[in-house]
Amino acid sequence: MNIGVCYFPEHWPRESWAEQVAQMAEAGIEYVRMGEFAWSRYEPERGTYELDWLESAVDLVDEHGMQAVLCTPTATPPKWLVDEHPSILRQERDGTTVEFGSRRHYCFNSAVYRRESARIVERLAERFAGHDAVAGWQTDNEYGCHGTTRCYCDDCATAFRTWLRERYDGIDDLNDSWGNAFWSQEYTGFAEIDPPRHTATGHHPARLLDYYRFSSDSVVEFNREQCEILRETDDSWFVTHNEMSLFGAIDAYDLGADLDFMSWDSYPTGHVQHAPGETTPDQLRAGDPDLTGLNHAIFRDSADGDFWILEQQPGGVNWPPHPTQPGDGAMALWAHHASASGADTVSYFRWQRCDMGQEQYHAGLRNQDGSPDRGYHDAVRAAEDLERLAEPMDDSDNEARVALLHDYENLWGLQIEPASVDFDYWDHLLTYYAALRRHGVAVDVLPTDADLSEYDAVVGPTLYFADEDLAERLDAFARDGGEVLVTVRSGVKNEHNRLRPALPGPLSDAVGATVEQYEGFRDDAEPEIAYSGESYAFRTWGEWLDADATETVALHETGPAAGTSAITRNAVGEGHVTYVGVWPEDDLADALVTDFLDDAGIAVTDRLPDGVRLSRRGGLTWVCNFTSDPLGVDTPATAAWHLGDGTVDPFDVAVTDADPAAVSVVVK
Ligand code: GAL
Repeated sequence: MNIGVCYFPEHWPRESWAEQVAQMAEAGIEYVRMGEFAWSRYEPERGTYELDWLESAVDLVDEHGMQAVLCTPTATPPKWLVDEHPSILRQERDGTTVEFGSRRHYCFNSAVYRRESARIVERLAERFAGHDAVAGWQTDNEYGCHGTTRCYCDDCATAFRTWLRERYDGIDDLNDSWGNAFWSQEYTGFAEIDPPRHTATGHHPARLLDYYRFSSDSVVEFNREQCEILRETDDSWFVTHNEMSLFGAIDAYDLGADLDFMSWDSYPTGHVQHAPGETTPDQLRAGDPDLTGLNHAIFRDSADGDFWILEQQPGGVNWPPHPTQPGDGAMALWAHHASASGADTVSYFRWQRCDMGQEQYHAGLRNQDGSPDRGYHDAVRAAEDLERLAEPMDDSDNEARVALLHDYENLWGLQIEPASVDFDYWDHLLTYYAALRRHGVAVDVLPTDADLSEYDAVVGPTLYFADEDLAERLDAFARDGGEVLVTVRSGVKNEHNRLRPALPGPLSDAVGATVEQYEGFRDDAEPEIAYSGESYAFRTWGEWLDADATETVALHETGPAAGTSAITRNAVGEGHVTYVGVWPEDDLADALVTDFLDDAGIAVTDRLPDGVRLSRRGGLTWVCNFTSDPLGVDTPATAAWHLGDGTVDPFDVAVTDADPAAVSVVVK
């Protein structure tokens, strides 16, 4: 568990570097990430390379016993390159060219840009090969940030046609598979197929789905080229990439396959303001532990269990609607939460607030004059705490027995056709993730093709494109005694985004019921179901189930659905498959999840207060308090506290060796 920092030596006078780097080491920092966006300094004009300055910075880092993480600079092609090759610029859906003057202005499918990227990456790699202080690389920066994954230029048109030709058995196959008889959308050849550019109303869902797949694949390929160059040059380096919160345009599992581990950039008070739903005052100070935690879990599990936070929020940030100041201690709390969730390194963005360019309203650990800012003190504390905690830790992982299935195609399908305005895939996934985490349960978030044999329970929110293979695997999992919970809008579409004959499609046998009708609800609707003798509210989406062949465990109580089945539980072999035909509000989600975990034999804690979560790593349990209230925490008499004690201050953390199921928390 290490602390790192992002440093941009090129933003500061050379004379200040030695002092800045010495101060980093003093703060307990172990990794310094550098070189991001610096192409115009690496190569001020074509063919003139100036890398000495970066090497001096790496040497300074080395002299202070730290390691460098270097970045490829391809998120910011310099002006001379753009002027030489304007075709590398990305194009929006309406044909607008994304001009030079910011960042991420390139197209992933430009052959010219691929060549230029490879050239600069090779140069950098050759220069730093064998340098002891370079631990590894970050490729590019936040692929797809600012909505830049999908480009609609002519290079993309050509690449899309090639991609389609490889997947379809001729144009008739494509027309039939997509269903192009609808609105006269048939093609006579692949050369006629364009990117889905500006249209009067919605695009064909099959074409969009393939474009989303193609665009994600294009980024994966772009990234792979850089990974190969770096690895071929020095195979001792790790290669990673910094992903973003609930970022859906690129399949992180595909991207992760080429990386040693995944990283992501965590800005809790910013992300919570962009997430679905209302933001509470406490969340404006510390974010939402479930939103942040879900990201930790996705990126932890997307490339072999390790992950880094390459950018950790250091204080107030410039890009959310409201640039709130984090609560006192929150910057240390986030480092603890990430580490407890499995992060190897938490690296703060950035060392010093910049006094030029687009991010002057973004804090650093130090102010623009070099004096320590609020985040600095938290980062120092986090570094000390984590070092201290390494001793009592063993090498066990989070011991999750529950797998939550997560899939980018399901997300794309629901973005393409939400069918009801509030139906948001991430929000639905969070409903279940949060319900599990409110009970202290460790959860692994896995792709739908993951091996599930280590788990006792599987939750599959909205398995929209569930196919025969997944249906068989879930059926077999239940047959062997596992508990499966599948939710609304599962098994709806085939791989070409076309409706299945009956829903939930291939899952119907395992579920033992089918969907008879469905409807979406406005915010002010108050639909309810009866479950376990009580009425519970649900929201957004409801299905009426034909459940003659299985057990109904909840009935609709309101609207035209009243009296029909809302939730079923089908006995399959030694286990069960539960189908939840509504989107539960929190109380219902809690009741469902606790009953489900009970069936799976998984112990839970009493419902934790909102904003308080337990995370387990290395045989220790972190009590993370994301609220402005102090907490009282009870643990068994035999348990020890390794950090703090049973009174946890606002926005603070305490660490015990008690099992999460034996911990109880009250707000004081
Ligand atoms: C990230 C990005 C950084 C910086 C930061 C500001 O998205 O990777 O370069 O812009 O946001 O919060």
